Amino acid sequence: MKSFFTNKAFFKITAAAMLAMPFGQAMAQTAPADAKMNAFVSTLMKKMTVDEKIGQLNLVTSGMAITGSVTNNGVDNGIANGKIGGIFGLYGVENVRKAQELAVKNSRLHIPLIFGLDVIHGHRTIFPIPLGMSATWDLDIIQKSARVAAKEATAEGLNWVFSPMVDIARDARWGRISEGSGEDPYLGGKIAGAMVKGYQGTNLKNADAVIACVKHFALYGGAEAGREYNTVDMSRLQMYQDYLPPYKAAVDAGAGSIMSSFNTVDGVPSTGNKWLLTDLLRKQWGFKGFVVSDYTSLSEMSNHGLGDLAQVSAIALKAGLDMDMVAEGFLNTLKKSLQQGKVTQAEIDAACRRILEAKYKLGLFDNPYKSLNAEVEKKNVFTEENRKAARVAAEHSFVLLKNTNQILPLKKSGGTIAVVGPLADNKRDMLGTWVIAGEWEKSVSVMEGMKHVVGDNVKLLYAKGANITDDTEFMKRLNFGPGMVSLDARSPEDMIDEAVKTAKKADIIVAVVGESQSMSGESSSRSDIGIPESQKNMLKALAKLGKPIVIVLFNGRPLTLSWEHENAAAILDVWAPGTEAGNAIAEVLFGNYNPSGKITATFPRTVGQIPIYYNHKNTGRPYTDGPTKFKSNYLDISNDPQYPFGYGLSYTSFGYSDVKLSKTKLKGNETLTAKVTVTNNGAYAGEEVVQMYVTDPVASLSRSVQELKGFQKISLQPGEAKEVSFAITPEQLKFYNSQLKYDWEPGEFIIRIGTSSADTHSAKVQWQK
Ligand code: NOJ
Repeated sequence: MKSFFTNKAFFKITAAAMLAMPFGQAMAQTAPADAKMNAFVSTLMKKMTVDEKIGQLNLVTSGMAITGSVTNNGVDNGIANGKIGGIFGLYGVENVRKAQELAVKNSRLHIPLIFGLDVIHGHRTIFPIPLGMSATWDLDIIQKSARVAAKEATAEGLNWVFSPMVDIARDARWGRISEGSGEDPYLGGKIAGAMVKGYQGTNLKNADAVIACVKHFALYGGAEAGREYNTVDMSRLQMYQDYLPPYKAAVDAGAGSIMSSFNTVDGVPSTGNKWLLTDLLRKQWGFKGFVVSDYTSLSEMSNHGLGDLAQVSAIALKAGLDMDMVAEGFLNTLKKSLQQGKVTQAEIDAACRRILEAKYKLGLFDNPYKSLNAEVEKKNVFTEENRKAARVAAEHSFVLLKNTNQILPLKKSGGTIAVVGPLADNKRDMLGTWVIAGEWEKSVSVMEGMKHVVGDNVKLLYAKGANITDDTEFMKRLNFGPGMVSLDARSPEDMIDEAVKTAKKADIIVAVVGESQSMSGESSSRSDIGIPESQKNMLKALAKLGKPIVIVLFNGRPLTLSWEHENAAAILDVWAPGTEAGNAIAEVLFGNYNPSGKITATFPRTVGQIPIYYNHKNTGRPYTDGPTKFKSNYLDISNDPQYPFGYGLSYTSFGYSDVKLSKTKLKGNETLTAKVTVTNNGAYAGEEVVQMYVTDPVASLSRSVQELKGFQKISLQPGEAKEVSFAITPEQLKFYNSQLKYDWEPGEFIIRIGTSSADTHSAKVQWQK
């Protein structure tokens, strides 16, 4: 849309154009009932030509924020000619107003545009990456983060966000594991629902509501070998049981749109997969919103081997795709396909109707400029309140992976700390993967945060110590945006030397290391998921000093941390914490907030263990206590992960009682109550995520060794004990059987409650039908 802003004609708002607006204030009183919407859309569609209907199915990118390798041309003409239904990558009241006016005043039927953007973990105020957010296990915090993002996004004229991403991932090589909620379908589903509610608010017509776009439908996280955009192939059973639940939960929460994924499902690209988009999504799940393709995933169906652009566009429309992102396959081929009888008018109408319905639900026909208010834009973004919400979320997202001899929290006065590492005095890498409108310059570095919290009470020394990476080839690939990763003018040896000299003057070393922003996220798969060698060399040199090292770990994925686990005194995993990074990290390091996060994706010991996840099957030759011949294990390493799903320490320690059951024999639709008493045995107040898993040891098919079925986050003062109670009904015992029927089978069940998937107390029940 490059010519858009210089198009003088565009700025002329004529009285005639104003009068021509058919969707003025009179519509504001329209009741949002379905019948009224249907009547409105039907009346409008009667006036539309085939070209105008196809135009509604076309989503283009403005070129303001580029998130793919192809962008659209001639956007301003396209809008005026009714060839565009929506724009993404454009924001700011001024910019959006210009585009909306072009549509509303200059296009024949004055149909407003919908404006989307990749608002994934915040808009201007950036929250932790989604993998970090999921580690909070706190649905209120998560929902609030989406609400804050929606308020900021709408303040800048947006009404549609490409989030939540709910793809289950079991492979940490895949860079997009950072954008999801980890490996568990139950937790993933809860988070998906909370995000949708946060974004969409109570009524889409509100000025601060956006339509959520659930992605990537479906199974995108199952990419073979963790390689981005790669093939996915899995059984229907695995889809239903482990990968589809979060999408379904988001649909159940009322998500207004869904994005098809780049991969194939059962061999057919999602974007043109009728079983997926129509049979499952609409017929089985009752989805009422619209489906948009991912970025050129429509034209990419040709690369998948499904035919030329005309052919794949027809396949996709027939499959149930409503909107084509960037590829312009619908725009340029559907009319001819209609004439040739390859698609029907009804199919075009159905897609067009769904786009118009979304605009109607948003209230855009009542007021196309409903969120375009320069005052609100100034007032509602990057506010103190929003930053506070981001800081609280960040504090809750951190996971204490190790803490020998209670080295953390650090003392708030006295002593000297050497703060070293390429991420210590760094603003750029605080924000994480998706930061279209986030400004890294405004983020708080770790050094800044530490100074805010302890001022001069603790002597803080700093040395960079290492580059993010010394590998210049790797660096080039990380630098897809200018200046994302740079090399220090000094040699790696000089930098390490400086770090060692600095550390010698200190009592304790805080090493802020790990992945930079562009090392995870889209198109950022890695085959080696350790801390880069440059940084590891620095850590090894520091370890020789024999002083305690606290690692503050930045990571967009589970990393392999065997050496770090052996050699560091403490490891605090902070993911990519967002705008308030340094403040949140300092609050936790100095004990103003006691960490309570728990990992939601298993940390492997080595890449060779991948895929690794807690809810695996038992196999016929299960591994028990160590590698043995003729068991399902490796010769050279244990099957156990470095850190299991649900794991995370606290500055205090929690004791768990045995599990007490209300009864051990149940029948039919009864409710079982399972209780534990959790006691804070340490010296700090703290929060604990109490997790409940169910094992179904005998069934008609091989079940997972355990599945998460409930969790509660509780707060305990030192010495305090609380009883935590879970109500369990047959609903939590259900699974998909070989006929894909979701039901439970009678027999024995094991209820496990504890602090992580690998540390639970259990009790057995017999449950008959
Ligand atoms: C491709 C990504 O897969 C998707 O998540 C994103 O929303 C689109 N690009 C638009 O930027």
